Amino acid sequence: MTVIKINAISVAEGSGDELAHRFAARAGAVDGQEGFEGFELLQPTDERTTWLVITRWRDEETFQAWLSSPSFAHGHRSQSERDGGDAPKPVGMHSELWSYAVAGGSAG
Ligand code: HEM
Repeated sequence: MTVIKINAISVAEGSGDELAHRFAARAGAVDGQEGFEGFELLQPTDERTTWLVITRWRDEETFQAWLSSPSFAHGHRSQSERDGGDAPKPVGMHSELWSYAVAGGSAG
């Protein structure tokens, strides 16, 4: 059964654009990962400063395998590092991993 793993990233006020920018330039390494079913980056539209990376996985095992894979490390290298440059300052001030299962809902 699909598992939902959410990385909740708090950014400093005004740093959201930079986070969006980094995701726009992401490595894409996760895309072919075994068990990966997709993700969305959610931007707060109220006064909150926590962005959510909602990822979906076939099961707990495939998510755990990605966490300790070279693909996870590569996907968390900035574009400038991937180009051989320095790491930019981290944009997230704090992050939490939330774990969910679908318990109900409707597609319509
Ligand atoms: C220390 C905690 C984490 C922080 C601060 C963080 C932040 C980021 C940032 C800034 C990026 C954009 C690429 C870059 O510039 O690095 C990224 C990529 C990504 N993050 Fe995280 N992340 C963390 C952990 C996680 C976890 C636990 C998950 C899963 C629930 C996750 C899911 C993703 C995904 C799916 C991508 C795209 C990777 C790719 O394209 O291959 N992140 N993250």
